[in-house]
Amino acid sequence: MTLTMSEVRILYRPQIMKILSIETSCDETALSVLEIKETTRQKSFKILSNNIASQIELHRQYGGVFPMMAKREHSKNIFPLFIKTLKEAKLLKISKPQILKNSKKLEKLLERELELLEYFLKEMPKIKKPEIDAIAVTRGPGLEPALWVGINFAQALSLIWNIPIIPVNHMEGHIFSVLVPDLVNKKITRSSEGSQPDTRNFFINSIEFPALSLLVSGGHTELILMKDFLKYKKIGQTRDDAAGEAFDKVARMLGLPYPGGPEISRLAEKARIDVLRSIAQRGGASIAISQQRDMRAEQNINPGVINLPRPMLNTKDFDFSFSGLKTAVLYLIKKIPDLNDKIKAEIAREFEDATVEVLVSKTLKAIKKYKIKTFIVAGGVAANKRLKKTFEEKIDKKETDLLFPTKELSTDNSVMIALAGYFQYLNKKRPFGSARGKIKAQGNLEL
Ligand code: KG4
Ligand code: ZN
Repeated sequence: MTLTMSEVRILYRPQIMKILSIETSCDETALSVLEIKETTRQKSFKILSNNIASQIELHRQYGGVFPMMAKREHSKNIFPLFIKTLKEAKLLKISKPQILKNSKKLEKLLERELELLEYFLKEMPKIKKPEIDAIAVTRGPGLEPALWVGINFAQALSLIWNIPIIPVNHMEGHIFSVLVPDLVNKKITRSSEGSQPDTRNFFINSIEFPALSLLVSGGHTELILMKDFLKYKKIGQTRDDAAGEAFDKVARMLGLPYPGGPEISRLAEKARIDVLRSIAQRGGASIAISQQRDMRAEQNINPGVINLPRPMLNTKDFDFSFSGLKTAVLYLIKKIPDLNDKIKAEIAREFEDATVEVLVSKTLKAIKKYKIKTFIVAGGVAANKRLKKTFEEKIDKKETDLLFPTKELSTDNSVMIALAGYFQYLNKKRPFGSARGKIKAQGNLEL
């Protein structure tokens, strides 16, 4: 009997595999090790270790991320984080120093990453090859200088350990983040201190197709139609700013720190609670509304002026636009002589309402048109409580399953990169080579 290549692949695929995953597309250096198990009926996984070194504190001082600064931080942090990740996964074995094979090739590979090269030449001869079967690494989209650090690091490891690399699309990673159940990784930390992750075994649930993903992050706002895992068709996208970018820019206008999304959300929530509190205290909605009007009048704003547009709400396509909304906030702020905390909170609330309204309204139309069985929201803005609550209220649960990532896995992480990498690995028609020196960072990589 002769077997086809894909039959061979299925027969000889390891049933249990360990994937080291690396994410450096923006301002988080993230590494994890997942053990993924496949039986004929089910796939399940354990997170053996998971670490993130966040650069948020650094970038906060400058109000945003500078690519070269991000790159420097990744280069500084990635090797120590890698050692910590191996150690926590119980895969770090120190031996007597061995001569590094391929050290000439390594020098060539890391000629632009001298800090990394120094770490490799000094530390790797002492580290025994661990039981890791493949390395999944983000190759784009993102900041190219930052992406290169992860890619070069992965290629150098692949060279030394002679194991394959699986290049992963960061946005695909976000989609796969929703497959991680709610219980996992509550203990994930965003500092270099880290903590032990939840190492229980979790089943990877399959999903029903057609599925639709709303990807909302600092760089993306897209509606992706999926007929199957790894089969993507973009049906809508932002024509200018991404939703997360608009959150960040509006936050900066209001004098709030980077990243702006969580800050705007916190203020908006405060504004809503204040209104509810007034209703409770004064005994009626009409009183609360008139109180709000009084407040605006007090601050020399015309009543009703905090009323932002809902760009492209009624267009027939599935595209979005957020730059007009951002500019509307700018003009509004210019008119206000005393931008106090109460008014800031009101602007945050109205901005969040406007953003959520357009995202939800367009998406609901797409869900109806394409008879969507599973709807996924992913990317940093998926952490927004208002967005989640509104979708939970508006989606018909009998027709469509709604999947959000846990809060911890909404923003950038490497667990999602390992899962997306695993599915890529399963799907690959021929085995992944080590791809040394062949993977290129692609800042604008599309799904
Ligand atoms: O996915 P992510 O961590 O990085 C990118 O791939 O861009 O997304 C970061 C974005 C930032 O713009 C941040 O402001 C936004 O996600 N974000 C939020 C919230 N948490 C993070 N936006 C709105 N509400 C939030 N709670
Ligand atoms: Zn992201």
